[in-house]
Formats: sequence, C-alpha cells, structure tokens
Amino acid sequence: MSVVKLAEGVYWVGAIDWNRRLFDSLIPLPDGTSYNSYIIRGKEKTAIIDTVDTSMTHELPKHLGQLGINKVDYVIANHAEQDHSGSLPHVLEKYPEAKVICTPRCKDMLIDLLMIPSEKFVTVNDKDTISLGNRTLEFIHAPWVHWPETMLTYLREDRVLFPCDLFGSHLATSDAFVKDEWLVYEAAKRYFAEIMMPFRSNIQKHLERLKEYKIDIIAPSHGPMYSRPDFILQAYRSWVFDEPKNIVILPYISMHGSTQKMVEHFVEALMQRGIGVKQFDLTVTDIGKLAMSLVDAATVVVGTPTVLAGPHPNVIHAVFLANALRPKIKFVSVIGSYGWGGRTVEVLSSMLPNLKVEILEPVLCKGYPREADFNSLDKLADTIARKHKENNFV
Ligand code: FEO
Repeated sequence: MSVVKLAEGVYWVGAIDWNRRLFDSLIPLPDGTSYNSYIIRGKEKTAIIDTVDTSMTHELPKHLGQLGINKVDYVIANHAEQDHSGSLPHVLEKYPEAKVICTPRCKDMLIDLLMIPSEKFVTVNDKDTISLGNRTLEFIHAPWVHWPETMLTYLREDRVLFPCDLFGSHLATSDAFVKDEWLVYEAAKRYFAEIMMPFRSNIQKHLERLKEYKIDIIAPSHGPMYSRPDFILQAYRSWVFDEPKNIVILPYISMHGSTQKMVEHFVEALMQRGIGVKQFDLTVTDIGKLAMSLVDAATVVVGTPTVLAGPHPNVIHAVFLANALRPKIKFVSVIGSYGWGGRTVEVLSSMLPNLKVEILEPVLCKGYPREADFNSLDKLADTIARKHKENNFV
C-alpha cells in the first residue's frame, strides 16, 4: 500500500504483512497483520509515530521517500515491543537529529531491547505536550496495554488518537480505514482476547480517561484505522465492562471416543436448556478462536480423558492459556473418561489461580459412558442453567 492521508500533513507510512501467520511464536494470524507507522508534519517540526517490525524495515523509508521527508525531529515510541520499535535504529541512523519521545520506562526497555544510546531519548510524563509548530502532540500514559511502559499519543488539532496496540487488529487489508465493520469487529475481538484481555481492569480506567478527548480518528498500530471511533470504543466497553453471557465454552480432547460421546451428549443437554455452546476439539482448534470465545462466556467445561494420571497435555495447554488470559468466566467444570484412576480434576483445578471461579461438580466416567453418566451430565447442565439464571447471565 502507498502512503495514506489522514489529514493535511498527517500520513500512514507503515507496512502490511500479508503473509505472517504467527505472532510471538504463539498467536495464529489467519489474516496477516500490519505495522502502522504515521508521520505528522508541523510548520516547524516533523514527528514519526512508532515504526514497523524489523522484517519490514524497508517499507518505512520507501514511504517517507514518497513524501520527500528529509528531516525528522521526533520519533514517538508509544510502545517498546519490537513489532513497532524494531525499525527505530534504522530510522535514527537515517535521521540522526531525531529524538525518541517515550515514557521513562519505555526508554529503559528500548535501551535493553535495541541498545539505543541513552542520549537519543527525551522522556515525557503523563499529559505532557510537544509542539510541532501548528500542531500539538499530547502524551497519555496508559500502562499495561499490554506492556508496562505504554502510552497513547493524541494529535490535538486534528483530533487523532494514536493508541499503538490498544484498539488494534491483526488484519492485513487494503482498506486503510475500516469499511467492513463486522470483519474488523471479529479481528479486533480476537486481538483483544489474545493480547488485551488480561489487562481488563487497566483498560477500563483508560477508557474512562479517554472520555475527556474529542476523537475523530483512531489510528492504531495494527489493522485499519477507525473514522468512526465509537465503533471500536463501544466494542471495547462491552468486552471489558459487560457481565458474561449465557454461554458455555467446551474445549476438549478425546482419545478413543468416550469423552467425545460425553461431549456430544452434554452439548445437546446445554442447548436444550437454552444455553449457547461453543465446542472446540483441541487437536484442530485455532487457539485464537478459543481465546475470542472466552471474552463473553460465563462458563468453561473442559473435556478430557485421563492420560498418564492427569489431563491430556493439549488440555493442559488450553487451560494454562485460559488462566493467563483472565477471562470473566464465573464457573468451571470437567467432564471426561478415565481407565483406572488419576488426578485429572485436582490438576486442572490447581491451574486456575488467576480466575475467581466456582468449580462445579465434575462428571468423570470409567470407560465408555453409560446411562448413569449421561444423567450426571444432564444434572451438570441443569446446574449451569440455574447458575446462569441466578446471576442474570440469561
Ligand atoms: Fe503490537 Fe505489543 O506490539
């Protein structure tokens, strides 16, 4: 994509990564991503907001060249993670007079991560401003979205918010601005679930603070820009503030079909009781889809056979992630089959210290499930329906 104009003298100059399929060697990127960088030309000074991932460093000078940028005064580093800071050393080499503007903590991290000399930095406090002549940049400290050093940058005169990762989406698209809101909603929700969900309480505070600002454009550092900011602000409000919904998430593994049979019966029982269900076979599940489903759910029921005296390793992986992502789920249970014993429930229960959940009576059956086991699954479905109703999740 060529440069994109946001306002007079304000341009997107980033990179679209159509082919990337994994982030942090963990997060699936089915739709690629982008590393959005922006340039703001004031009457007196020029600033770049964030850079691009090291793998696409060549895109940034190409775009700056298209705009004839031969002097940069400031590089605003909202966030130290390398997908935005990776090209910073290159930019500083090309524009040696540029100063890096960031929070004090971000300065320390950029020195650690990229070995940028200390004298290159100017640190800013919350609500500090820098004038570009006819334009003003205001810095809003916003720790823990999703690292501790993060800040947002607000371009006052044009009412553009540059929030870096916050409000972003891993989506490679030729639409510089959001056109298909449903497509972007899905990608942004997935991004929220994978990256931001553990920091819900911090994000609640940041959303409250942002009410002070008049915002015409939100220009994040991943995915398309929002010319209708309320679309993404409203989505975030619902993800961080709303109560969970009448939904059960059922990640499971079956080795020889017994747990599968229990899952099938249980899903049917939940549906008959008017409960929404999302079932994930962990041998083939896109872990990002599972994370996204956790944003709204009230209950997780894990299906696992007992293997080597405990849960299946794929189930352990999923439960570890669920605990780390800190969704707002309220109830957890376990169903599954065992051959001769084990500590499956104890092991899984001990893996959820971050979640304030009630563990509901598990249903474990010896071998293939029989009528008594199906009755127990029905009872568990009854309990979940009652708990959801008592908590007004229905
Ligand atoms: Fe997009 Fe936290 O980096």
